[in-house]
Amino acid sequence: MIEIKTDAALEAMREAGRVVANALAAAREAAVPGARLRDLDEAARAVIEKAGARPAFLGYHPSFAPTPYPAVLCTSVNDAIVHGIPTDYRLRPGDLLSLDCGAVLDGWTGDSALSLLVPGAPARPEDERLIRTAERALEAGIAAAVTGARIGDIAHAVGTVARAGGYGVPQDFGGHGIGRAMHEDPPVPNEGRPGRGFPLRHGLVLAIEPMLLAGGRDAYVCDPDGWTLRTTDGSRAAHVEHTVAITDDGPRVLTLP
Ligand code: MF3
Ligand code: CO
Repeated sequence: MIEIKTDAALEAMREAGRVVANALAAAREAAVPGARLRDLDEAARAVIEKAGARPAFLGYHPSFAPTPYPAVLCTSVNDAIVHGIPTDYRLRPGDLLSLDCGAVLDGWTGDSALSLLVPGAPARPEDERLIRTAERALEAGIAAAVTGARIGDIAHAVGTVARAGGYGVPQDFGGHGIGRAMHEDPPVPNEGRPGRGFPLRHGLVLAIEPMLLAGGRDAYVCDPDGWTLRTTDGSRAAHVEHTVAITDDGPRVLTLP
C-alpha cells in the first residue's frame, strides 16, 4: 500500500532526515586511513542516540536476508555495492567507501547514503568519475520527482545517467517508498520507462538510491554473510541515496543537515 503523508508528517520526516545527514557526516569524518569500519559505525550511532533517535538498520530483517542486520551503518568497500556490514577492516588510502545510514525519530524514518574516497592517496580519475556519475544520477532522479510525473520518470532519469557513463545497474535492488517503515511501496527502480508506474503526488516520500557498477555489468553476488552485495568482476561500485518528498512546490530533499 502506498501511503501519502500529511504536511505535518513531512516536517517530522525532515527532522529524521537531518539526524541521518548528521550521522553520515560524522561517519564520513571518521573515514581516515587506519580507521576500522566499526569505528565509523560507533560515530554514527553516537549522533543518532544523542538526537534521541534510533538506528533504523539495526535489527532490521527484510525477507531477502538470512539474519537481522547487525549494525547502524552499511559500509561497502571497493567492490562491495551495498549492505556491507561494518567489521574490523581498517580503511586504506584510496578505498572507495559507500556509507548508508537510517534513523527513526518520533516514528518517522530517514534513509541516505554517500560514496567517498578515503584520503591519503591520489584519487584515481575512474573512481572520481564513478562517484560523480552516481551523484548526477541521484540529482537527475530527484529533479524528476515532481507532481504529475510517474515512478518510471525517476527510474528513467537515474538509469539514463548511469548507462551514459557506461556503468552497470543491479536489477533487483533500488529505491523505495519510506515513512513509518523504512521500506514502503512503491519500489523505485534505478532504470525504467518514462510515463509508466505510480503517479507522483504531494505527500509521497521516496528513497532514491542509484547503485553504479564500474565494470559495466549488472551482475552481483552476495557474500556468505548473507548481506554484502559485490560486483562479480571485482570492479568498484558507488551508492548514493536521499529521502525525498514530492510536493506541489517541487522535490524536497529531507536528508540534509
Ligand atoms: N538504503 C538501504 C536500502 O534501502 C538500507 C538497507 S538497510 C539494511 O536497502 F538494514 F537492510 F541494511
Ligand atoms: Co534505502
